[in-house]
Amino acid sequence: MKRDVIIACDFATPEATLEFLDKFTDEKPFLKIGMELFYAGGPEIVRELRRRGHKIFLDLKLHDIPNTVRKAMKVLSRLDVDMVNVHASGTIEMMRAAAEGLREGRPEGERPLIIAVTQLTSTSQQALNEQLMIPGEINDVIARYAMNAKEAGLDGVVCSPLEAGLVKQACGEEFLTVTPGIRYPDAAKDDQSRITTPARAREIGSDFIVVGRPITAAPDPVAAYRRCMADFAD
Ligand code: C5P
Repeated sequence: MKRDVIIACDFATPEATLEFLDKFTDEKPFLKIGMELFYAGGPEIVRELRRRGHKIFLDLKLHDIPNTVRKAMKVLSRLDVDMVNVHASGTIEMMRAAAEGLREGRPEGERPLIIAVTQLTSTSQQALNEQLMIPGEINDVIARYAMNAKEAGLDGVVCSPLEAGLVKQACGEEFLTVTPGIRYPDAAKDDQSRITTPARAREIGSDFIVVGRPITAAPDPVAAYRRCMADFAD
């Protein structure tokens, strides 16, 4: 798998997204569409970005009973996106159903990549133990959830770049790690805590980095994207 930079399009409207993307005249970045933009723009914004030639990671983090997730994934697969995700806490059975739904949606073509969220990076060790009532170390939970995703036939996980090595150790080099939490030392951390640079993420073993504000809020987003690509991509 070729390493690539995915821009998180955390915009409130399709118009704001397209205005931002109009700055990119020479390249077609891989884009992440999350809940905010999908709920605002619906399938039509996905189709429009596909028409413009972008690869799409549809970050909707599905989590429901297996049958519901299977049927929802069948619909998303037909949108011709390149990557989707689910919560690993939905169980191995739910993750298997998700992958099946993707294949059903594209009986002829290759199904989209499917990755799992192990634990949200916003979940602290204390919240894991005391609120979710999951005992033990958060890194052990992340490794186990990643192994569950692998057993279900998924392609990889979303995790902090600092956890990418742990995941590769547990699941093998071929198992993909998609990592947000990317910052340059000279920039604002915003609300991210477990962060690293594109070059370090590459060293640790990330396959894709997801970068939002360091590109979308930069004075020159195209230059910021090119800097990330130069430091990270193959
Ligand atoms: O602006 P920033 O680079 O922090 O954006 C990171 C993107 O990755 C956001 O869309 C955020 O929701 C997403 N994300 C994250 N941490 C996770 C999962 C997703 O930051 N664990």
